[in-house]
Amino acid sequence: MPRTRPAPAELILRLNEIFHDLETDGYDEKHPDILEDEIPRWHRFLTRACAEIPAPRQVLDIGSGTGFVPLRLREFLRTGDGLTCSDLSSGMLEICRVNLHGAGLDCDLRLLKLSGGTLPLPDKSQHLVTLNAVMHHLPEPRDLSREIDRVLKPGGWVLIGHEPTNAFARNAFLVCNYWLLLPIADPRQFLYEIILRLGWFEALRRPLAHFAPDLARHNRLLQKVNDRLLAEGRIEKTLPAAEISGLLDAQSPDAGGSRPGRGFSREIFAECFPGYRIESCETYNALHKIHPRGNWMKRYAAWLIKRFPESGSQIFCALRKPGK
Ligand SMILES: C[S@@+](CC[C@H](N)C(=O)[O-])C[C@H]1O[C@@H](n2cnc3c(N)ncnc32)[C@H](O)[C@@H]1O
Repeated sequence: MPRTRPAPAELILRLNEIFHDLETDGYDEKHPDILEDEIPRWHRFLTRACAEIPAPRQVLDIGSGTGFVPLRLREFLRTGDGLTCSDLSSGMLEICRVNLHGAGLDCDLRLLKLSGGTLPLPDKSQHLVTLNAVMHHLPEPRDLSREIDRVLKPGGWVLIGHEPTNAFARNAFLVCNYWLLLPIADPRQFLYEIILRLGWFEALRRPLAHFAPDLARHNRLLQKVNDRLLAEGRIEKTLPAAEISGLLDAQSPDAGGSRPGRGFSREIFAECFPGYRIESCETYNALHKIHPRGNWMKRYAAWLIKRFPESGSQIFCALRKPGK
């Protein structure tokens, strides 16, 4: 029987599932920015939202990964509260379960394997829905936002963190600043970005792996992802690394190269959640992928975001559903 090519949305979902199932090993070491910088931000927003939500609270975390948000929720949930951790990847959910086990979580914990744009939960059952670094993986963020709206109680909160903005790429000053600082601050990332933009990454990623064990590991991961997709008949030939990256981070403006037009903003979140009040929306990381180390750089990054508050490369948005 001839195999039909799946719709891109299906391919994006399946690719994300396979990739994150395989990425479970070492995920936390690969994403130290999420772990370091987002902790105080999440604490601030959870404190604000939870102060308004009466106990017993029902909380849904979507795309829980290794449990970053559930671990932040630990201090806000008590016996009688419910926390549902959900993910497309059962591998990630298993790590999340292990990480939460023994973390001193008092509430009722439920792990939920998702399969796409729907949330298998009753209407108006949740007080708070959280997502950290998830929206940019979705083929259709609006499908999920409709589902979040369905399961959220009137007056409920949605917290969306660590998503790429569409504004950074449009700010010529910040983009020039990034390219001028990058070779000094992170020569390796600079080299990677240049090779990527010249279209040489596919040809060089195997030879370069001899000098970079993490690239060798990434190559093995890409090979396994391609093998699975080929075996399932979802692709006809091996996908290059940049294309995998572009599909995996389907809404990211720089996944596997420059992809103008992608990314999030206050306006996009307002469109995704019509009628919701935006309690707060802040952009950050004006130095983009440069992780500021040392006092002067931290001070410079803080000055930049004060000067361009709408144009950081990442966004965190807190929204509230109308009604009581
Ligand atoms: C970058 S990780 C973030 C994980 C975690 N929230 C954190 O902050 O560390 C993205 C997570 O979203 C999950 N994911 C990707 N697409 C998804 C989808 N359509 N529905 C639910 N989860 C998804 C992935 O499996 C992965 O665990």
